[in-house]
Amino acid sequence: MSASLAIDVRGLTKRFGKRVVVDDVDLAVAEGEIVGFLGPNGSGKTTTIRLICGLLRPDAGEGSVLGLNVRTQSAAIKRQVGYMTQRFSFYEDLTIAENLSFVARLYGLKPVEEAVAKTLDGLGLSSRKDQLAGTLSGGWKQRLALAACIMHQPKLLLLDEPTAGVDPKARREFWDEIHRLAGEGLTVLVSTHYMDEAERCHRIGYIAYGRMLATGTVEEVVRGSGLVTYIVHGALKPEQMRALSAAEGVEQVAPFGASLHVVGTDREKLAAALEPLRREPGIRVEPGETSLEDVFIKFMTGAQERAA
Ligand SMILES: Nc1ncnc2c1ncn2[C@@H]1O[C@H](COP(=O)(O)OP(=O)(O)OP(=O)(O)O)[C@@H](O)[C@H]1O
Ligand SMILES: [Mg+2]
Repeated sequence: MSASLAIDVRGLTKRFGKRVVVDDVDLAVAEGEIVGFLGPNGSGKTTTIRLICGLLRPDAGEGSVLGLNVRTQSAAIKRQVGYMTQRFSFYEDLTIAENLSFVARLYGLKPVEEAVAKTLDGLGLSSRKDQLAGTLSGGWKQRLALAACIMHQPKLLLLDEPTAGVDPKARREFWDEIHRLAGEGLTVLVSTHYMDEAERCHRIGYIAYGRMLATGTVEEVVRGSGLVTYIVHGALKPEQMRALSAAEGVEQVAPFGASLHVVGTDREKLAAALEPLRREPGIRVEPGETSLEDVFIKFMTGAQERAA
């Protein structure tokens, strides 16, 4: 690999009590890369992010973050990382400017006023600097949080569900900004539950029950899943629906608007399960593309079954 790695960790493991929450996780992220981190609730995304930025100490594992040892140089790592926590972490009853100046002092930026003014200007929030942070809209809160966590010019951004509950336009603007920052050389690891956001990343990693189940580009992850998808157009009767769901080879049946996505691993069995429907008037069956969501549902089901 020609580009150097901003994150290069192996075997990262974290236990809380007896529970292994992050289990032997390997992660390599190149400089300037945007990597999406996906997985069900409680799968260990936030914990992994905290291990990487030096806020938590791993029970096992090794490697480097920004060329620094993840086990022994956590203080130095923290100074060069921007970490946006899962929940809005500002003082809602302080103004926008007061919040930024708090962050500027935290990082020892000098002069504080200049750093704050520059950030406000970049955000286009100069005229609203005296507004209480708690009164900002969801989208603006996230933009403020992002601006605050790049004030000290970190080399690595760790964003933990930065756009949860934010409307599509604000989310798009947020992602434009992330791509702009990555274009300037910043490396980004971003956790999300949104499929469209996964598709905006250069690569993704999928974690369930603390284990990294797949990494790669979206295309690689979809291909690697080995799933086959057919699309059924037309209205199915309840008994047809039941028969299809129960048929051998059918692993998922999911409605998308007026059509159904029928997903399985074995192409022949899947085709055979759909055969009776092909003869029905008003119903059309055609090959479809497997979506990332289909793949994640399979991962989740598989991980649940293994855990049980
Ligand atoms: N400090 C802690 N002490 C004990 N258990 C914890 C602690 N932090 C997290 N956990 C547990 O570890 C597991 C993984 O949590 P984590 O927050 O990393 O998941 P997540 O993937 O970020 O989930 P979500 O998508 O809901 O944010 C959860 O079961 C959680 O309850
Ligand atoms: Mg989390």
